[in-house]
This record gives sequence, C-alpha cells and structure tokens, in this order.
Amino acid sequence: MEIAEAIKQRRTIHIFSKRKVPKEIIERSIVAANQAPSHRRTFPWRFTSLGMKKRELLYQLQLSLKFGNKSTEECNYKKIRDKVLNPSHLIVATQLCTDNKVQKLEDYAACACAIQNLSLSLVADGVGSKWSTGKITTHPDTYQIADIDPSEEEIIGFIWIGYGTQPPLITRPFLKTIYRERD
Ligand SMILES: Cc1cc2nc3c(=O)[nH]c(=O)nc-3n(C[C@H](O)[C@H](O)[C@H](O)COP(=O)(O)O)c2cc1C
Repeated sequence: MEIAEAIKQRRTIHIFSKRKVPKEIIERSIVAANQAPSHRRTFPWRFTSLGMKKRELLYQLQLSLKFGNKSTEECNYKKIRDKVLNPSHLIVATQLCTDNKVQKLEDYAACACAIQNLSLSLVADGVGSKWSTGKITTHPDTYQIADIDPSEEEIIGFIWIGYGTQPPLITRPFLKTIYRERD
C-alpha cells in the first residue's frame, strides 16, 4: 500500500471484532515503530503486549473505576467487557523516564511518531487500532498488572489493535488554516 493511502485510511477504531491478528503483523508494526526518529537517539519507546488474563484484570479495574462498589445494568458490563476484551491485542505504550524536562518532551514526540508508524504499518496490513489515554491507563494498578516499573517507564497510552468498523468521516481543518507560505 502507498504511504499516502495508509495515512488517509488510518482512523481511530472504536468497535473491534474478536478476530485475531496474526503475530507477524504485530511484529511488523513494532519494527515500524522502532524506525521512528528520536533526538539524541534515545529510542524512548517500549511496547508491552498484555494477554487475556491481564486484560481480565484490567476489565475488573475499569469496572471499579467506573462504578466503584455499586452494581450496574448488564448492558454496561458488556459494553466495557467488549471494549477491553474484544480487540485482538492490547499493547501498553510506555516512554522511558528521564529527569531532563526538555528530553522528556522530545521523547514524548518520538514515542508519538513511533505509535503513528505502528498504526500506519497495521493499516497497510488491513488492521485497525486506537490509542487511548483514559484514567485506567495511568492507574497504579495498571503498572502492577502490566508489570511495568513506574520509576523506569511511564505509560503514555493503550494501543488497541484488531479488525474493526471504520468510523464516520470527520471534518478536518482546511489546508489554508494549517499551512501558510511566507516569502
Ligand atoms: C495522545 C492521544 C490520546 C488519545 N486518547 C483517546 C482516548 O482516550 N479515547 C478515544 O476514544 N480516543 C483517543 N484518541 C484518539 C482521538 O480521539 C482521535 O485520534 C481523534 O478523534 C481523530 O480521529 P482519527 O484518529 O480517526 O483521525 C487519542 C489520540 C491521541 C493522539
């Protein structure tokens, strides 16, 4: 697939089927992520793929964050269950920690480039993804579940991966709004 086509087709997928994505497609996307630029070659991105047992724990955590000890209607459980357990893969994206403020900012930019590379690679293989940053993604229990040491790596989002429904088109700014030429 042409890069321009992959960029055009990439969208945030919200509804995933349970169909599994082959391992080689995931690995190809990680290789693509690793090709991202990073100032001073810090290569600050790390990706942790969570299996179903850990995702069950995240589902329980999401329920407690959303409803506390209260019970809710069955359809609400299903909605969250589908969200957490349907996508073929859940990859936790992390950034290596640094005390240097400038480097931290630039490293985040590098990680964002890596995540974009990853999602474009997936698009080229006919696979969708979503980068999410809800409360659960930075909860201390999530670090524990994913076995990520917060003194070494900071979670910058969840990357949900799978086959899903293309969302409706959204309006984007006009080119004349975002681009100007000055002689
Ligand atoms: C840093 C970052 C965090 C995001 N977090 C969420 C999120 O928590 N939930 C969500 O539904 N989408 C999230 N998104 C996806 C955006 O909602 C999405 O990119 C935007 O609506 C534009 O849609 P598109 O990706 O299909 O072009 C996030 C995107 C970025 C770059």
